[in-house]
Amino acid sequence: VQEKRYDISDRLKLIDQQTLQLFKKAGALAEELEYNLYIVGGFVRDLLLGKANLDLDLVVEGDGIEFARRLNKELKGELDIYHEFGTAVLTLEDGMKLDVATTRVEYYSGIASLPEVELGCIQQDLFRRDFSINALAIQLNGHSFGQLVDYFNGREDLEQGVIRLLHNFSLYDDPTRIFRGLRFASRYGFKFEPRTKELIKQAVDLDVIEKLSNNRLFSKLQLGLQDKYPIKFINLLQEENILSYISPDIRWNEEKEKLATKVVDVLEWLKTLNLSFKFNEWVLYLMVLIWGMNHEQIKEFNQKFNLNKNLSYRLFFTLSFDSLSSRLKAAEDNSEIYYLLEGFAIEDLLLLLIKDFTLKDKVKLYLEELRWIDIKVSGEDIIDFGYKPGPFFQDALQAVKKAKLDGKIVNYQQEQRYLRDYIEKRGE
Ligand code: CTP
Repeated sequence: VQEKRYDISDRLKLIDQQTLQLFKKAGALAEELEYNLYIVGGFVRDLLLGKANLDLDLVVEGDGIEFARRLNKELKGELDIYHEFGTAVLTLEDGMKLDVATTRVEYYSGIASLPEVELGCIQQDLFRRDFSINALAIQLNGHSFGQLVDYFNGREDLEQGVIRLLHNFSLYDDPTRIFRGLRFASRYGFKFEPRTKELIKQAVDLDVIEKLSNNRLFSKLQLGLQDKYPIKFINLLQEENILSYISPDIRWNEEKEKLATKVVDVLEWLKTLNLSFKFNEWVLYLMVLIWGMNHEQIKEFNQKFNLNKNLSYRLFFTLSFDSLSSRLKAAEDNSEIYYLLEGFAIEDLLLLLIKDFTLKDKVKLYLEELRWIDIKVSGEDIIDFGYKPGPFFQDALQAVKKAKLDGKIVNYQQEQRYLRDYIEKRGE
């Protein structure tokens, strides 16, 4: 393995000033302690791609925890130390986070004083990683500040848009790397280098994915659905025959892919309403993904991944979709629209539109107006009319609400009159 070094300090100087100052301080401290200090991983990859990445992973050739302690003394942040891993997390006042890791002690044992071996330490630390594009480091020590260290042709792979595993056992060491690979491929539009593609196929064929717990499996799916291009990610899962490990009941085809492309349009539309909703966009992709499963299959899926109530309900909603959609289509009165949509989560309503955007005006009416409509009359009014409480109270008030939703009455007086008429007509 040949070490290549490139001076990219000019590039590094273009990042935000705060991070740059932090790097300089850390670099100076590393000089003082005579440690080699590098920033590694996603930050470096994304810097070279011209993208921001707020994850700062530092690696120290030396005592990482000692280094983190000293750095924290200067920066006056908060320090969490994980002795068993030789790592520390430094959190600054403004919320910025810095992971500090040590290249493992055993790399040093016995031969720590030899400089070649010190170089070998960062090399080994990088070799332990998943893909060449993630195995780049930038040195931060004063004298070599901004030197890109590249042992595995990561720089060229980044330029060529290639995802390359570093060694043959990587996916057996950690099967989640398969999902990481697909995530990077979808996010950056990169291709797998042929041997890597072969290694993924072999690992999948040997069922490595079954080694992951269901919790981890789901969280890796979720990460992909939360990434920049969830549809590409799903397509890759399909291509690599991984979907069936998530559930044998998932069907992914062109029709569903088309549906998934509508998610973005519907979210754009939602923005124009100027309403604020808290919900997770990735859930919409998950709903489309599992769409078509029957009740039993969804139940199994929810149990397998131990999904929370809210998420389970969203998946079950895909079952009621068809009937709700056709009833909404037929609904004419505001009250009909209201009672159809009442109680559904925003994700459900958005899914309706993903399938049939012509329903947008009714959903909009519901979201902007109908769901806020309330009546001012209550059981008190009925008692004031001289009646004793009974089950008809509920009915009568419901009738008032319906009339109000349909715009037949507007103010409190009209509500009262309507209420009285209704009860008298019913002859209670
Ligand atoms: N890494 C690895 N194998 C894993 C997870 C992480 O080799 N299963 C290494 C990679 O070098 C990666 C670094 O650890 O770059 C940091 O990991 P993480 O922060 O999880 O991912 P990022 O690469 O930063 O990716 P993302 O942009 O998705 O956060």
